[in-house]
Amino acid sequence: MSDTTRHYNATDRCLSVIDQVLQTVFGQPQTTGRKNPAQGIPEGHLTTAEREHHARLMRINHAGEICAQGLYQGQALTARSSTTQSAMQQAAAEESDHLAWCDQRIRQLGGRHSYLNPLWFIGSFALGAGAGALGDRWSLGFVAETERQVEGHLGRHLAQITPKDQPTHHILTQMQADEATHGMAAHTQGGAELPLPVQLAMQAASRLMTHTVYYC
Ligand SMILES: [Fe+2]
Ligand SMILES: [Fe+2]
Repeated sequence: MSDTTRHYNATDRCLSVIDQVLQTVFGQPQTTGRKNPAQGIPEGHLTTAEREHHARLMRINHAGEICAQGLYQGQALTARSSTTQSAMQQAAAEESDHLAWCDQRIRQLGGRHSYLNPLWFIGSFALGAGAGALGDRWSLGFVAETERQVEGHLGRHLAQITPKDQPTHHILTQMQADEATHGMAAHTQGGAELPLPVQLAMQAASRLMTHTVYYC
């Protein structure tokens, strides 16, 4: 009987990462087919300043979703069990819906993506691969903590946007609910609680990133 399993060497893996960067940062996000929550929601009359502010907030959320892709794909690469590996790939697929919705909303608001998206993806991929290498318990714990922080961050954005912008409101509300589900799933699958200094370092890194992306 012949062995039909494909074995990937370091060059194959490297090319696969480059392909993922290009697909995620410059390609069209592959969605799961879920409807954009903003579809059919009427636009409100925003001032120029409100429009620009919301486009910048959605740029932050779009960059955050680029990071989510990097983290999940990195974790899937080094996950120990096939169950965790497929859970990470499934989560990355669901996050791609968020990526597409943020992208569409940015365009509608007349904004642009972060210039630093390739950097966010590569950094997050390395972080995800590192977390995955520590073992599934820590990797899942990292997901649970990330999702908990993203959920809080989306809540702060929801509080900032004017109620006149219902399409953005609908997208952020759905994303927040999804992130809570992802976090819960990672916790249920055995994610360990991360030490407080790690949680605080993650918060500081995310604050620095959101501030940077608001401007570039
Ligand atoms: Fe997301
Ligand atoms: Fe998520």
